[in-house]
Amino acid sequence: MDLRAVRGMKDILPEHVGQWHRLERTFRAAAERHGYAEVRTPLLEPTELFVRQIGESTDVVEKEMYSFERHGDALTVRPEGTAGVARAYVQNAVQGKEPVSRWYYLGPMFRAERPAKGRLRQFHQAGCELFGDPGPVCDAELIGLVAEVVGELGIGNYRIHVNSIGDKAAQARYREALRSHFAPIAGSLSEDSRRRLQTNPLRILDSKSPEDAAAIAAAPTATELLDGDDATHFQALCRYLESLELPFVVDPKLVRGLDYYTRTLFELRTTTDELGAQSALAGGGRYDGMVESLGGPAVPAIGFAMGLERLLALMPEAGAAAGPHCYLVTLGEPTLATALGLASRLRQAGLRVELDARAASLKAKLRRADGLRATLCLLLGEGELGRGVVTVKDLARHEQWEVSLEEAPRSLGTRLAEGPPPAGAGSRPG
Ligand code: HAM
Repeated sequence: MDLRAVRGMKDILPEHVGQWHRLERTFRAAAERHGYAEVRTPLLEPTELFVRQIGESTDVVEKEMYSFERHGDALTVRPEGTAGVARAYVQNAVQGKEPVSRWYYLGPMFRAERPAKGRLRQFHQAGCELFGDPGPVCDAELIGLVAEVVGELGIGNYRIHVNSIGDKAAQARYREALRSHFAPIAGSLSEDSRRRLQTNPLRILDSKSPEDAAAIAAAPTATELLDGDDATHFQALCRYLESLELPFVVDPKLVRGLDYYTRTLFELRTTTDELGAQSALAGGGRYDGMVESLGGPAVPAIGFAMGLERLLALMPEAGAAAGPHCYLVTLGEPTLATALGLASRLRQAGLRVELDARAASLKAKLRRADGLRATLCLLLGEGELGRGVVTVKDLARHEQWEVSLEEAPRSLGTRLAEGPPPAGAGSRPG
């Protein structure tokens, strides 16, 4: 068969899902500790939402969106979560119901990027969005939340980069300063950067082309152009981050690939080279103008999203997933109906039960029970059926006994509650 998954989109097989669950659990628990509640928005949104909010001259909108038309509607599969969440906030008039909203989400995002290590076309994000507080205390607290999740996952070796690009007026000033800086040397810039000089000079700072490096290093920074409230906001943020003792650096050339940001920008980057060029584990910032531009009132907002595949690549392996409590082996067709009923009663008693009703040999079935690291193996043959019992083999303790079918859920539940044998009391047959 040569039908394969779409390039840059991956199957997540059951053997890996345990790690995904651990990551998702850790994120949810941390977000909920901080007062965030889950929101779920559609995967499809009007194309116009992303074009207007993310910005026409960004890579995402210019070349990475999966967009199509259906029944006359221009639709896009979400490349990120923030625009959809803000749309939901405005559409449901949430600002009238509560002064501050803290929402989190988890799910797949889609960008037609060139696949590389750490860069997929379907990837997953966990994100938080906070509406109604202009910061900078909540900015620092939100950055602290990202660090908390990453730390709890066992990932060290990271640094938080922060910057401020000011409000929209400061950004216009900054764009002009960058134009004046790059225009006289435009001839030496990469083709992409020459184009961006016209459309959006901030994007030049993102360029990885070697011919742009020297000009970028000498470019003015946004922070040196900050004034008034923007400057005060950023200074206070840095003070709060220090008080939280977070490993952060002010990175005055940090820009992000989405146009909606105002003031605070941040990225949490791994300092190892395990993800190649894709070192950002999470990114976010303030977007004080978005709610208003979507037709809502002037509500400030800030948020972040973390890339789950990138976090998983750096998470230390957890112990092997727990096997079934009981592996129920049937021996012969007449035992099947009773086995089905027994498995069901055991599960009702809260046990994890796997029923092996295959026509395979006893040896093959025992091998499978061992491979799954089942605690108990239950054998139901015609002899057991006649006596109204099931044979129980404790695979770790090398013990075997019979228990009546009726008593099995209670008696096996008690046995399993005793836990594993003490170290050295028995070993698993190899
Ligand atoms: P972003 O920086 O585009 O921001 O994405 C956030 C994170 O998603 C990145 O740091 C990275 O870990 C992961 N990511 C992005 N693209 C890919 C990809 N192609 N493959 C694998 N992982 C990827 C946003 O999306 C904003 N919505 C964040 C935000 C929320 N800003 C404010 N609120």
